[in-house]
Amino acid sequence: MRAITITRHGGRDVLAVLEHPDPSPAPGEVRVRVAAAGLNFAEISARQGLYPDAPKPPCVVGYEVSGTIDAVGSGVTDFQIGDRVLALTRFGGHCDLLCVPSVSAFRMPEAMSFAEAAAIPVNYLTAHHMLFHIGTVHPGSSVLVHMAAGGVGTAVLQLLATVPDVVSFGTASAGKHAHLRAQGCTHPIDYRTKDYVAEVRRIVGDRGVDIVLDPLGGKDWRRSWDLLSPTGRTVAFGLSNVIDGQKRSLWRVIGQLIKTPRFTPLAAMDLNRSLQGVNMGHLWDEVDMLHGQMTAIIALYDKGVIKPHVHAQIPFSDAAEAHRLLEDRENLGKVVLIPDGAAQT
Ligand SMILES: NC(=O)c1ccc[n+]([C@@H]2O[C@H](COP(=O)([O-])OP(=O)(O)OC[C@H]3O[C@@H](n4cnc5c(N)ncnc54)[C@H](OP(=O)(O)O)[C@@H]3O)[C@@H](O)[C@H]2O)c1
Repeated sequence: MRAITITRHGGRDVLAVLEHPDPSPAPGEVRVRVAAAGLNFAEISARQGLYPDAPKPPCVVGYEVSGTIDAVGSGVTDFQIGDRVLALTRFGGHCDLLCVPSVSAFRMPEAMSFAEAAAIPVNYLTAHHMLFHIGTVHPGSSVLVHMAAGGVGTAVLQLLATVPDVVSFGTASAGKHAHLRAQGCTHPIDYRTKDYVAEVRRIVGDRGVDIVLDPLGGKDWRRSWDLLSPTGRTVAFGLSNVIDGQKRSLWRVIGQLIKTPRFTPLAAMDLNRSLQGVNMGHLWDEVDMLHGQMTAIIALYDKGVIKPHVHAQIPFSDAAEAHRLLEDRENLGKVVLIPDGAAQT
């Protein structure tokens, strides 16, 4: 099989499509002939050497794929060769053939394309988990989401639109505001030209917002906390502020860590606020929880309520371009990687 391989930490030139041995399914596994694989911000961090969970290079990363089952291991009764599935992987997803436990695979609806299917697991499970399992959005809630035009942000806005009377704020470059509005965002904010805290306060007043979904980290976690209403929740789910450009800067990392606020339970109690953390990669084995969430997400897709926004489908052989789209902040929604020559029907 062929896989996009991070040969060492560094810029986009460290990516190479290399041959690896074909895997065979172990008991309880299915083998998927990959048609599309999702690219996530985490994999940009992994290439740069800023993602502690990632395997050491040379390595193949990737959390999600879609494709067709071409072999089943012993004991698998719920899938057959030829089934179209989307699947969760913990690394190794950026390849054209891989094995996953059958519990990590989900049958695709007929109307769903492979590109859409590869855009679902990380973005929509993360969004669904933050809004409905831990951040608990209610009718009338006010929610601020950062990086709102990206993959997770787009999924968050689409899911928020399923809850009545939600007021949503999304930070993104000005050129992406039409996209935000199309996903249901009430108040797009251009964080490059406006202070988002002042802008949110101008609209909601001193009360603040009920939920802030914050993948920026560093000083923004403090600013998110300060923006919360009584009973407000901050969900910390990323540290994008450490990334700027193609290569890691340890000074930038240290700078952001120094600015990370220290919270105490006393402050949380006095202010009636909570801080919640999410790392979906560490929940990939929580099969029962994820099955409930994925079933809900696929049902919303079937009803036409959500639809992944695929910004670009890029062949494996041009993986550096796919990484560039995210690094240069050009993407709206999801960038999907396609094995060269893979059938899309
Ligand atoms: N904890 C978890 O389980 C989990 C799961 C998924 C994702 N995440 C995190 O969630 C965040 C969003 O992920 P994603 O995959 O949705 O991202 P994405 O699709 O790559 O979104 C990238 C967009 O975010 C904006 N942005 C803001 N600050 C940025 C920065 N420092 N570097 C690059 N882009 C920046 C850019 O748009 P503008 O033009 O608007 O600036 C860019 O186009 C990341 O921090 C990721 O690590 C966490």
